[in-house]
Amino acid sequence: MKILLINGPNLNLLGTREPAKYGHTTLPEVEAMVREAGTALGVEVACFQSNHEGGIVDRLHAARTEGVAGVIINPGAYTHTSVAIRDAFAGTAIPFAEIHVSNVHAREPFRHHSYLSEIAAGIVVGFGVEGYLLALRGLVKKLQAASKAA
Ligand code: DQA
Repeated sequence: MKILLINGPNLNLLGTREPAKYGHTTLPEVEAMVREAGTALGVEVACFQSNHEGGIVDRLHAARTEGVAGVIINPGAYTHTSVAIRDAFAGTAIPFAEIHVSNVHAREPFRHHSYLSEIAAGIVVGFGVEGYLLALRGLVKKLQAASKAA
């Protein structure tokens, strides 16, 4: 099973960016952690980061033809603005988990709405970078259950 981990804008700065909110773990460390957890679960994890909305849309279109079974995405600020990324998920029908390092609901009101949550398979919010692992476990379990039922 192939899983794609997508990190949106400014998440390349993880580890140094507002550490009180996002912690000290870097993006390469997060990606290594998720890949390793994927290996333990018997799934292959590919990683992608972009600061550009269209880059994320293009990556999702490519994922469909690569046979990616599911996506874990931290869309960063595009969470709160991007109809285009929501439409890319709807258009490709790839199941996905949405993850936020910080508890967006305890922050500014503009962070309380997500364009993606309504169509996500699940959401993990506020558990720091540990949330990426929780999202991986939850998504893989859901995908395995769905393929057994099919
Ligand atoms: C974030 C929360 C977003 O509101 C913010 O724009 C980010 C990171 C998080 O992981 O907590 O870039 O998605």
